[in-house]
Amino acid sequence: MTASASAEPTHTLVRLDAPFTDQKPGTSGLRKSSRQFEQPHYLESFVEAVFRTLPGVQGGTLVLGGDGRYGNARAIDIILRMGAAHGLSKVIVTTAGILSTPAASNLIRKRQAIGGIILSASHNPGGAEGDFGVKVNGANGGPTPASFTDAVFECTKTLEQYAIVEARTPSLDAPGKHSIGAMDVEVIDGVDDFVELMQELFDFDRIRDLIRSDFPLAFDAMHAVTGPYARRLLEGLLGAPAGSVRHGTPLENFGGGHPDPNLTYAHELAELLLDGDEYRFGAACDGDGDRNMILGQRCFVNPSDSLAVLTANATVAPAYANGLAGVARSMPTSAAVDVVAKELGIDCFETPTGWKFFGNLLDAGKITLCGEESFGTGSNHVREKDGLWAVLFWLQILAERRCSVADIMTEHWKRFGRHYYSRHDYEAVASEAAHGLYDRLESMLPDLVGQAFAGRTISAADNFSYTDPVDGSVTTGQGLRILLDDGSRVVLRLSGTGTKGATIRIYLESYVPSSGDLNQDPQTALAGMITAINDLAELEQRTGMDKPTVIT
Ligand code: G1P
Ligand code: ZN
Repeated sequence: MTASASAEPTHTLVRLDAPFTDQKPGTSGLRKSSRQFEQPHYLESFVEAVFRTLPGVQGGTLVLGGDGRYGNARAIDIILRMGAAHGLSKVIVTTAGILSTPAASNLIRKRQAIGGIILSASHNPGGAEGDFGVKVNGANGGPTPASFTDAVFECTKTLEQYAIVEARTPSLDAPGKHSIGAMDVEVIDGVDDFVELMQELFDFDRIRDLIRSDFPLAFDAMHAVTGPYARRLLEGLLGAPAGSVRHGTPLENFGGGHPDPNLTYAHELAELLLDGDEYRFGAACDGDGDRNMILGQRCFVNPSDSLAVLTANATVAPAYANGLAGVARSMPTSAAVDVVAKELGIDCFETPTGWKFFGNLLDAGKITLCGEESFGTGSNHVREKDGLWAVLFWLQILAERRCSVADIMTEHWKRFGRHYYSRHDYEAVASEAAHGLYDRLESMLPDLVGQAFAGRTISAADNFSYTDPVDGSVTTGQGLRILLDDGSRVVLRLSGTGTKGATIRIYLESYVPSSGDLNQDPQTALAGMITAINDLAELEQRTGMDKPTVIT
């Protein structure tokens, strides 16, 4: 521990020539290119609006850290100095500024902070030519609701000045207690509290027995935030051999990679598991550690199925031994978990895309587990999705069942039937073309009912809207749904996290009961629907792309 105090710093009010008009947060915070964030006063403008809007700033404690990408250190310096100018009593910041999103959520809750600022553009590439982002979480540890982000956006549009102090900010090289004027700065190791929480949730002895029993595993941290966490957990506490954690050192540009754990961007790991027999288990997490991909020997676990498997096997983990209150999934996520929830006799909620919609359900104790098809799974232990939590949960199940990942999937489908599922993304489509395609399809929806589609009949078609069962708030326009008479469906929505042009996401799902053919390739099982939506939405013609950028 080191301690240092700076003399009373100089407060400065910096005037903006003109307010920024483009600081509207998307699905997950304000996400822009690093270059945009480097414009003079750009970050400061957004942070000023956050400090003016977040309740309890005066005298409050804030958690601060990020995924280590380019811009992390500069942003921490600015936010610390602006926090001091706005009267925060304390900022808890992490060594090297490294803090995963779920670990931040835990710290906010544990330390009763007013919220946290997480510097990350999640799974988007980093570096000077990549993306940067600022996410603001509230006192419950979860992403702030739209009412907050809308208010921040409104504030930025007329902002005239921001407050900052001139001071040297403390070194983040080691834990220690410092101050900037009247504000305390506590530098802590961002891994400790998270590891402690995981040890409360899972039976580490059992997992260690599994890992030591000829169970080679590969975890890919993708040179992003989870490296230090995974090394401590998997190689340190759980006895996996050194080297089990790959790409474990966080780098500012993620080693030039795209830190999104899917079959396209984590292909190195995918090839190790799907084309070889060296490893029994594989997993990867994204830039800020909230996403996960689970692989077994020659087996890919679809994230929607992963949520269903965790739900069906939840009681093997000490944290969930007494059963689950309920579960939730985002609308585009497959209904695999619904079938399990039905059998367990628990509620299953369908929310719009984005983790923030799970917050109320978790806070109200209506759900214990939740997840999204976009490689996100989590529980009531924090208010974010949690990549390493999902990895440990899978290891706990494997430790109990002592079979392969593929066996778990086969048995699951035999019991519950299989939801064939795939998402096709068309990235960086010209914005006008994407919106034109979306608007056209939306206008066609009322007339689609009763029409033929991929050998079935369309039974309903709408734009999904959600009424929050806890606070009654209504969220509209959450994705175009084409529902078929056999329970299959296609969903089309535009991404709210992309930074280049527009991204069209098409979600395809078709259910086969346990008596049906459970062993098809999803692309084959869904082929008819893929062709039908491509024709109906004029995908190729309007995007100029003859195939998706990413298929998961
Ligand atoms: C994407 C995912 C969504 C997830 C979000 C943040 O948002 O689809 O499920 O919550 O990233 O990780 P989108 O780009 O689709 O708006
Ligand atoms: Zn993420």
